Amino acid sequence: MKLAPSLLAADFGQLRQEAKEVEPLASYFHIDVMDGHFVPNLTIGPPVVNSLRRGLQKPFDIHLMIDHPAIHAPHFDVKPGDFITFHVEAKDDPALTIDVIKKIGANVGISLRPKTSLEAIFPYLDEVALVLVMSVEPGFGGQAFMPEAIERIRCLRRKIGDRSIMIAVDGGIGPENVRDVVEAGAQLIVAGSSIFKQEDRLAAMRALLEAAG
Ligand code: DX5
Ligand code: ZN
Repeated sequence: MKLAPSLLAADFGQLRQEAKEVEPLASYFHIDVMDGHFVPNLTIGPPVVNSLRRGLQKPFDIHLMIDHPAIHAPHFDVKPGDFITFHVEAKDDPALTIDVIKKIGANVGISLRPKTSLEAIFPYLDEVALVLVMSVEPGFGGQAFMPEAIERIRCLRRKIGDRSIMIAVDGGIGPENVRDVVEAGAQLIVAGSSIFKQEDRLAAMRALLEAAG
């Protein structure tokens, strides 16, 4: 199991320091980009994400919770190994967004809200490298994990079959539920509060990795 600390729960005034602190145990930095339209919250966009890169080695997993991913994705400076993940419910045509993300050299991730039918992403499975299953309603950190996500992960795992697609899960994950999520078939765990809201972040990450089994 791999960990992607979600910087949404970090101190935005010292993002780089906070990211560096967790980097030893992070496989990716999960960065939540919100536009105030697709979700009722605003965070950061390309200028901040691109500036953050200096001094960090691990790839970025940029989670676009925005209406127009095909318009904004090209403004991110992509490095090898990065993922750009968009929502199937966004306003831009998913096939177009996938093309745009591929063209700028990022790996493509697709995500969906907890109440969106899994079938909505099935037509795109051959084109993506990651599926991000939301286990909270997107928009805010610190929400409770929705247990229905477990069955969705299992179902997705079966549907993916032998395609090489990573399943990531995002929202409300902590040591108490990470094992269930991993056993259901998730390979990448996104965690905000259960890492950054803890006094010792690396210890919190070790606890997550150990609890995952
Ligand atoms: C929510 C974001 C998540 C969020 C998770 O819309 O996509 O990445 O930061 O935070 P926690 O782990 O606190 O639920
Ligand atoms: Zn996220």
